[in-house]
Amino acid sequence: MTGHRNLTALYPGSFDPVTLGHEDVAHRTLRVADRVVVAVAESAPETKQPAFTLQERLEMLREVFAGEDRIECVAFRGLLVDFARERGAEVVVRGLRAVSDFEYEFQMAQMNRELHPDLEFIFLTPGAELSFLSASLVREVARLGGDVSSFVSEPVFRRLTRRFQTS
Ligand code: PNS
Repeated sequence: MTGHRNLTALYPGSFDPVTLGHEDVAHRTLRVADRVVVAVAESAPETKQPAFTLQERLEMLREVFAGEDRIECVAFRGLLVDFARERGAEVVVRGLRAVSDFEYEFQMAQMNRELHPDLEFIFLTPGAELSFLSASLVREVARLGGDVSSFVSEPVFRRLTRRFQTS
């Protein structure tokens, strides 16, 4: 990014697992921010059990973004707004694939704004060829033995194969 803003954007999510769509959004974020902190959230107890542990999800993120020194991958527990404060992040990025994503994202952004009025949310759309992708569909296809190699990076593909071959 040009200028002297030195902007850090927080890109939070479950990343269960990280898909090519997530990777695309993170790389696009680097066009508008100096650094991206990809922040994998521990699942809320009331949500479904994730396919991968927090540690596994973090390891996959670190593997896929290994070559990018402006992308840092971390795990966080608790509220996103608290983590944003802790990291001094002013901007949160979320991917928006379709109108169907909008309602959930809008609701979360508004709630987060109530909790942290100085935090801004920006929404980036992935490449059109990735707009159908979701981690939950990737999990389902992998679980049922389908080929997900064109939806995730190699390290993620290997883990998915291992995970669902043995279960
Ligand atoms: O990839 P996801 O599952 O759509 O990501 C949702 C996520 C992790 C960004 C959201 O659940 C979150 O921010 N969790 C942290 C806890 C929190 O702050 N909850 C209140 C959200 S308004």
